[in-house]
Amino acid sequence: MSDTSMLAHFEIVDRRDPSDSIGMEYCRISPDVKMGKDVRVFAFVNLYGCSIGDNCKIGTFVEIQKNATVGNNVKISSHTFICEGVDIEDDVFIGHNVSFINDKYPRGTNADGSLQTEADWQVVKTVVRRGASIGTSSTILCGITIGEHAMVGAGSVVTHDVPAYAVVAGNPARVLSRMEEK
Ligand SMILES: CC(C)(COP(=O)(O)OP(=O)(O)OC[C@H]1O[C@@H](n2cnc3c(N)ncnc32)[C@H](O)[C@@H]1OP(=O)(O)O)[C@@H](O)C(=O)NCCC(=O)NCCS
Repeated sequence: MSDTSMLAHFEIVDRRDPSDSIGMEYCRISPDVKMGKDVRVFAFVNLYGCSIGDNCKIGTFVEIQKNATVGNNVKISSHTFICEGVDIEDDVFIGHNVSFINDKYPRGTNADGSLQTEADWQVVKTVVRRGASIGTSSTILCGITIGEHAMVGAGSVVTHDVPAYAVVAGNPARVLSRMEEK
């Protein structure tokens, strides 16, 4: 459901036929989201407890969890999942269907059979530095830093830090080349 009280700060983009009788965008933006100015949010987005900078674009079916931060001028393509503990700096591009991870050894239950809760594991943080790009359908393991202006190829599984300006791809992602610094 849209939170219309926050419309002064950001725009929910509705591309449907204006004659559509539903007439309301299906987004869930929790009141605890710190939302920057001029952010464009597309349909079926789920945001809670996170911080979004100015002038960002958040595509359809994106979820951003609590304690994730997104800088200014960040473009997040549809179907991407940004979990707790991920910090994305300014000017980053995130492709479609990118998944971050914050627990390297996840378990559903404890030894006694009870479902695990937040008390049973610790978030492992990941940072995407300024100007980096992450290609479509990549998976970013946790505890990773993706360096400034690095380029992660489509379908990569990133298991180690990516140096600034490096082009990496594959599973596991390996350095293919280096972008020129501007
Ligand atoms: C990683 C990338 C930037 C490399 O581009 P490039 O520097 O022009 O590299 P090339 O196309 O010359 O390929 C170089 C080698 O890497 C391989 N390669 C390129 N992209 C790859 C990828 N994503 N995964 C695995 N291997 C890849 C190529 O097969 C080639 O190998 P070869 O020399 O054995 O034939 C690009 O292929 C890519 O994946 N970009 C991301 C696109 C994307 O996700 N966009 C999202 C919005 S549409």
